[in-house]
Amino acid sequence: MAEVFKGSFTQQEPIPEAGIEAAVAVMRHGRLHRYNTVAGEIAETALLEQEFAAQVGAKYCLAVASGGYAMATAMRAVGVKPGDKVLTNTFTLAPVPGAIAALGAVPVFVGVTDQLVIDLDDLAAKADQADVLLLSHMRGHLADMTALIAICDAAGITVIEDCAHTMGAAWDGVPSGTQGKVGCYSCQTYKHVNSGEGGLLVTDDAEVAARAIMLSGSYMLYERHAAGPPKEAFETIRYETPNISGRMDNLRAAILRPQLRDLDRQVARWNERYFVIEAGLRNTPGLTVIDRPEKESIVGSSIQFLLEEWSEAAVHEVQSSCAARGVELKWFGGAEPVGFTSRYDSWRYVDAPRMPKSDAVLAGIVDMRVPLTFSIEDCALIARIIRSEVSRVFQAAK
Ligand SMILES: Cc1ncc(COP(=O)(O)O)c(C=O)c1O
Repeated sequence: MAEVFKGSFTQQEPIPEAGIEAAVAVMRHGRLHRYNTVAGEIAETALLEQEFAAQVGAKYCLAVASGGYAMATAMRAVGVKPGDKVLTNTFTLAPVPGAIAALGAVPVFVGVTDQLVIDLDDLAAKADQADVLLLSHMRGHLADMTALIAICDAAGITVIEDCAHTMGAAWDGVPSGTQGKVGCYSCQTYKHVNSGEGGLLVTDDAEVAARAIMLSGSYMLYERHAAGPPKEAFETIRYETPNISGRMDNLRAAILRPQLRDLDRQVARWNERYFVIEAGLRNTPGLTVIDRPEKESIVGSSIQFLLEEWSEAAVHEVQSSCAARGVELKWFGGAEPVGFTSRYDSWRYVDAPRMPKSDAVLAGIVDMRVPLTFSIEDCALIARIIRSEVSRVFQAAK
């Protein structure tokens, strides 16, 4: 009898008790709005910002309504205007080009390598086309950040990092999100901390932080921020910056604070699972594991592998036979966007030229979530199932 996995790929862990208690306390006092405080009180949202800034070693932090809102706010805060071009990844998800489009700006896609990171040669070639790069660390894969920042510095490009999949990761010991001008994180259910929806933005730039705070809707109450710049930073910015409301509330902040305190432990648990799956997939005929660079500290909340030069029919067969055994695989090579998986040619509001090298990589990318509700044994079982189905289909196609 073929082994079958019975677990759920979309079930996250419950909110920790400390988060539930803190959330109930906020509901009991009723001051959910971040600026609704009593004398001497520092709001949960302000405390969250202070703690996250310290955790990643950033000067300033702002909590907002979503990761997408954080990216749009970051771009507005660094001066992106309607009609401006913004460089971004070919391999990413819909909220990234969507954040650019939200400003009336225009995404310019930069290719993806077979290591699943932004193609630095293509970036250098396109560096004269835009002043800003919205860099998506898609599925947690970090490019050589030293080389990337050198290219962008030389070309005068401001880097905004989309760390939706790299909260808790690092490149060469530097926390993801602190190498660009602004780092943006998501606290949405499927990310590394879960408040349903939510986002965080960090920067060391006082002007950018002041603009972001005003943009998020601070009603001139910016002095209540515990991780904001000094009030002098707001002197002219407060008159010049529109309010595009997207604040975080104290309820979500209360849920998030204990999760952030526990992030390192959770990262270790994710990686334990990731490397069990990776080991189980290694040396499967027809399947390429993505080797992670030594300088990258990962958060293995999902895993990708390549089925290089496989036919569409063969990939579909792997997907359906794995699904029949309880294993959900997503494929970035599909012609139609499905579920959370879409690609640059699905975003038809962008007039993007075809990118044959990237198309060849995307056509091979298979992607799988690794929720912490999986046990280590589950991970070993899932790897065995993928291995057997990939081997079978590969042999049959020979
Ligand atoms: C790569 C990437 N960037 C940004 C986001 C945006 O996050 P949010 O859903 O919080 O807006 C997501 C969410 O799925 C994502 O996958």
